[in-house]
Amino acid sequence: MYLCDMNKIGTDLFEADRLLRGGGLVAIPTETVYGLAADALNEQAVLKIFQTKGRPSFDPLICHFSHIEAARDFVTGMSEEVLALAEAFMPGPLTLVLPKKGIPDIVTSGHPTVAIRVPDHPLTLELLEMFEGPLAAPSANPFGFVSPTTAQHVADQLGDKIDYILDGGPCTVGLESTIVEYRDGKPVVLRLGGLALEELETVIGHRIDRILTSASNPNAPGMLSAHYSPGIPLEYGKLSELIPEHSGKTLGIICLRGEDHDIPSGAEVIELSRAYDLNEAARNIFAALRKMRSSKVEMILAEEMPENFLGRAINDRLKRAAAQAGLD
Ligand code: TXA
Ligand code: MG
Repeated sequence: MYLCDMNKIGTDLFEADRLLRGGGLVAIPTETVYGLAADALNEQAVLKIFQTKGRPSFDPLICHFSHIEAARDFVTGMSEEVLALAEAFMPGPLTLVLPKKGIPDIVTSGHPTVAIRVPDHPLTLELLEMFEGPLAAPSANPFGFVSPTTAQHVADQLGDKIDYILDGGPCTVGLESTIVEYRDGKPVVLRLGGLALEELETVIGHRIDRILTSASNPNAPGMLSAHYSPGIPLEYGKLSELIPEHSGKTLGIICLRGEDHDIPSGAEVIELSRAYDLNEAARNIFAALRKMRSSKVEMILAEEMPENFLGRAINDRLKRAAAQAGLD
C-alpha cells in the first residue's frame, strides 16, 4: 500500500479541471468504477495513463463525454438504433464502440474505432462540462488488478503517481460499463458489465450477439481472460461442492448470504447481498476481492451467481479473477 498525501483527495472541480488542462492525471468517480482521466486530445497526457497503470499500449481507452451530443463530433455511424441506446443509457453504464474521427491513435491503440461513454455521476458530469472536451479514462487501478470503487481504493494503489483524486463517494453500480460495438450495423457485446443484457435488448427490440473473449483473441483487447487479480488463488462455483474440496485450508468465502452455506470454522466470510439483490452484489464484489487480498486467507471461494441480469457480469469477473489468481 502506498502512502498518499491526503490533500490529493477532494471535491475541488476547479483544481481537477486545471490539472487536466495542464496535461495531468486525475482520478474521477463514475457510477461504475473510478477512472484515471487525462485530456484525450493530449497525446503526452494519454501516454502517462498507460505508464502509470502499466497498461500495454494495445489496450485502447474509453473516451468520456458530458453528453452524447459532445461525442458526435468524434464518431460516425450514429444509426437510429445507436441513438436509441444513447437516449436510454447515456448517462449510464454503457460504452459504445463506433468509427472514430479526430481522436489520437494512442487513445484507440491504432484502432479505427473509439469507445465512448457518458458516465452517470454528478461531479464528473460537471467536470466534463467545465473541461469542454473528451477525457480518456481507463479504470484507475494498476493493469490486471481489480477496479476501484472508492477514492481510497485509488489512493491505496496509485495515490503517489497521480495529481488528484476527485472523491465522489462509493460507486453505485460497482462493475465497469457494458461495451457494445456496432459492426456492419449490428451490435456485439464486447464486455458484460453494469448494464444488463436484458435492458439493452429491451431497448433495441432484438437479441444481441456476445463475443466471449479469450486471452488468445483479445477482441476488446482489455478483456484478457486473466484479469481482476485478487492476488490469492480463487475458485468460483457452487459452494456446496467447493467448500468440502478445500477443507483444511484457511478459506475466504464470498457469497450472497452466509447462512445459506455450511461455512467451516475460521473462514472469513463476506456477504454480497443478504437481500439476494444482484445490483447490491455488483456494488460490493470488487471491494470484497480487495478485502480478501489484505486478509490472511489461503484461498478464496466465491459463489457463482445466477446467469441473468448483473449476475452474468459478476460471474464474468469471477471467472477472470480465477484465471489470474496466484499469478502475480
Ligand atoms: O465503466 C467503465 O467502463 C470504466 C469507467 C472509468 O468509465 N472504464 C473502464 O475502462 O473500465 P478500462 O480501460 O478498464 O476498460 C476499457 C475496455 C478495455 O477492455 C478496452 O479494450 C475496451 O474498453 N475498448 C476501448 N476502446 C475500444 C475499441 N475501440 N474497441 C474495442 N474495445 C475497446
Ligand atoms: Mg480496467
